[in-house]
This record gives sequence, structure tokens and C-alpha cells, in this order.
Amino acid sequence: MTVAATTDALADLEVDLLVLPLSSRPAAPRVEALARPLGDSLRRAVEDFDGETGTSVLVYPEADAVPRIALVGLGDPAELDRERLRQGAAAGAQAAIDRTAASVACIVPPADLNDGIIAQALVEGLILGGYRYRRYRTDDDAPDLESILLHVAGDVDRAAVRDGIDTGTALARATCTARDLVNTSPHDKTARQFAATIRESGDRHGYDVDTWGEDRIREEGFGGLLAVNRGSFEPPTFSLLTWRPDHAVNTRPIVLAGKGVVFDTGGLSLKDTKGSMDMMKADMGGAAAVVGAFEALADLNVPLHVVGLIPASDNRPGNKAYVPGDVIQIHSGATVEVMNTDAEGRLLLADALSYAQSLDPRLVIDLATLTGSQVVALGADAAAVMTSETEDAAERLYAIQRAGERSGDRVHPLPMYDAYKQHLDSSVADLKNVGGSEAGAITAGKFLEHFTGEAPWLHLDIAGPAFLTQPKPYRPEGGTGFGVRLLLTYLNDAVTIRQNRDS
Ligand code: BES
Ligand code: MN
Ligand code: ZN
Repeated sequence: MTVAATTDALADLEVDLLVLPLSSRPAAPRVEALARPLGDSLRRAVEDFDGETGTSVLVYPEADAVPRIALVGLGDPAELDRERLRQGAAAGAQAAIDRTAASVACIVPPADLNDGIIAQALVEGLILGGYRYRRYRTDDDAPDLESILLHVAGDVDRAAVRDGIDTGTALARATCTARDLVNTSPHDKTARQFAATIRESGDRHGYDVDTWGEDRIREEGFGGLLAVNRGSFEPPTFSLLTWRPDHAVNTRPIVLAGKGVVFDTGGLSLKDTKGSMDMMKADMGGAAAVVGAFEALADLNVPLHVVGLIPASDNRPGNKAYVPGDVIQIHSGATVEVMNTDAEGRLLLADALSYAQSLDPRLVIDLATLTGSQVVALGADAAAVMTSETEDAAERLYAIQRAGERSGDRVHPLPMYDAYKQHLDSSVADLKNVGGSEAGAITAGKFLEHFTGEAPWLHLDIAGPAFLTQPKPYRPEGGTGFGVRLLLTYLNDAVTIRQNRDS
């Protein structure tokens, strides 16, 4: 797929569909300027269209050059922001899918934002809104969207638009990679197959991938990952991803750890099928976001040294499966009394977080579809973010929340008071793997915290936003790729802040 900007006359654009984003109160001169080349039917359609965010209507103009136009709503012009631009553009992408359009041009609307930001948001909306997962479909031969053009005015900041297009394209594509990984059938993504897919991604995008097999995992003492894997026919893997460009501004790495439970049956603490186990192919959504983030880091040549850690296994009942009451030992040496085999993600993440300490990281971020409790608290519209209550906690939380607002991958903080740790007290081991029925997302966060060290750490529980059973604007049913755009936005801020401070 190609994505580019153009200043050609509207009537000269040879595309299957022209997307025209309109606010609820479009300025009369703008409508006139559009109606002149495109015709009177457009003027009448604009009069009738209320411009509500994300709605669309199709128009067939008299002008031969443009076969059809989708008017898409941007809502109140006073409230126009990146998210509404994405949602409007996504409505245009939906119209393209409905009309099986292979080429689309989108007219860049006026907005009180920098030209690059506008271009980025539109491209994200068009690519993410046009996403379909077709690997297993035998009844769908519709063409893919092959080209996207942004129609810009002659006086825009060309360099900023180019930059916005490149950033938006890379972020949206990487998000689609994460979606594909989540949507893949469990039998096509065993831990070893998943690791092989990550290596292919590394080869294609230019970052390094090293995968440990079961022997190495045992040698390194990853008792959490091994315990979760015991009921499986398939061995576990631990993948280490490295992006370290010569121009990296940090020496000590930023570590991204992702929960890679390729299928979670709950193990012997078996899940119900409906509304629970039937979604658990998405339990590697955190790992998928890390893979997507590495693709975007490499595609955008981001000047940061970043290491990704992905422990992967399925969680199944089986003859050898771990059982409630088992006491296991994590990489750190700490012992855990397993009270529920369905609280498995924290066990393999504990190994990864403990291992991360050996890399002397400057920051550790983990992403995990960790708890049903996160879904109850925040649903699918925001992930929960937690961090250790150190002096700089508020600043860190504020920064990631801001990145969440701007990227559209929203996060909301949960408290991490000491009192919550007591829920994990065990009479036989250092701690239990589950708290009580209360504050489940937080006690899971406190469990993970036990395995972090001095380095600043952010935990993102993405259980709700990672996978949808009902579509949302520019997020289809199934895997959403949540976290990719959040991470890149947050990390890019880190670069900018550092460069400003150092200069
Ligand atoms: N993978 C699940 C969490 C989950 C739930 C993700 C719903 C996405 C949607 C996790 O492994 C799990 O089973 N958590 C348990 C923990 C409990 C046993 C303490 C949960 O939240 O119920
Ligand atoms: Mn589970
Ligand atoms: Zn799980």
C-alpha cells in the first residue's frame, strides 16, 4: 500500500473514492470551493449532512473524474482533535471497504493543529479503519486498499505532512501487525510458531531477535514460565528483541515486556467457555503490542536503545499440569504459592521482570492482558496503568496518560498502596499468586512489583482494550493492537524531552 500527499486539482484525482471530512458547521467558502469542481449534488448533500463524528453518506457527483464521494463527519469544529480526525477518516475507510475501493483520496480538512499531526491522524484512521483480518476467509476476494492520497492545500508545511504520513503509516501498520498476531488461530501460534513469527518480523524490519528454547529457560531458572507450561504439549519460548541504533540517545535500555500466553484455558482452574475462554487467543495481546512497537521503532529509526522480552506458552490442564498448592520458584529466587492456575500471566511476567533487572534498564514497561478485574473497572476504553509509589510516580503516570490521550490508546492509573500487598501473604511461600476477590487488577500489579528492582517501572493491564467483541471506531472486532501507538508516542516524548534537556 502506498500513502502520499497531493496538491493536484480535485477533479483530476483518479481514485475510486474521495473522502471528504466535514465538521457539523462547515464554512460556506470551503463548501463553495469544493462544490465548484465537484458539482451541485455535493452542495445539496453537504446541506443535508449533519457532520456527526464517525457518520458518513455517499454522494455521486456529476463530475466524471470522481466516481463517488464519502462525506464523513468530524463533529463540532470547536472540539476537533486527533481522535475525531481518526474516527472521521475511519468512516471513510469503511465506505471504501463497502464499495470495494482500491484507491482513496482524502481531503485534508481545516483544523487548529499542526499539519503533520493532522496528516498522521488521518492516515492512522484510514489504515486502521480499513483493516480486515482475512487469513482464514475463503469467501472474500475483495481487493485490498492499495493507495491512499492526502489532498492538501498548496500552502501546507510539506515537510511536516511528509513526516506525519510516515509516522502515521508506520504506527498504523505496526498496530495491524499486532492485530494479526492476536487474531491468529491458537493452533497457528504455539509458542515456537509465535517466536518464529517474531524472528521473521525482526528480519523484515531490521531489529534483532534471539529466542531461548526450553533448556535455556530451565538453565536461567524461569520457574514461572516452566510451571505455566507444564500442562502443555508444546515447549515454552522466551524471545529477546533488540533495537539499538548507532544514534541511540540512551545507553541503558528501555525494556518492554509482553505477556505471551498464546492460549489461556485457565489450566486446572479451568475457565468457562462463553465470554471467557472463547477470547483467550488474545492472551498474548501484550506480546503482540511489543512486537508491533519494535516494527515501528525500526521503521521510524527511533533513536532509542530498547529491549523486548516475550515469555510465551499456552496454559492448559494436562497430566503434568501445575496444580493449586504448588510452590514454584521465580527467576529472582522468590517462591510463589500457586493458589489458582488461571493467574498464570503474572508468573511468567515475574520471570521476565526479574530477568530485566540484569540488563540494568533505565525504564521497564510491561503490557499484559492480566486481569478480568481491569475489564470490570475500565472496560475496553482504557487500560489500567500502575507504577511503584516512588517520588517520580506522579510525573511518570502523567506522561503516559498524556501519551494515551494523544495516541488514542488511553490509560488510567490505579493506586498501588502497600496495603494491597498483604492480600498476597502466603503461609508457606514468599507470596501467593492471587489476592482475594477485591481489587484484582491492583493485587496483580503488586505481585509484579515484587519482581521489579530499582529501575522505574510501568505496568499496563490491557485485558479490556486488547480484544473487542463489539467494534469501536477504527477498532474492529477482535485484536485491536492496543499499546503500539501508546508506546511509540510515550517513547518519542522521552526522546524529545531528553534532547531538549541535553541541548
Ligand atoms: N488472561 C486472563 C485475564 C483476562 C480476562 C484477559 C478477561 C482478558 C479478558 C488471566 O490470565 C486470568 O485468568 N486472570 C484471572 C486471575 C484470577 C484467577 C486471580 C482473572 O482475572 O480472573
Ligand atoms: Mn488466566
Ligand atoms: Zn491469562
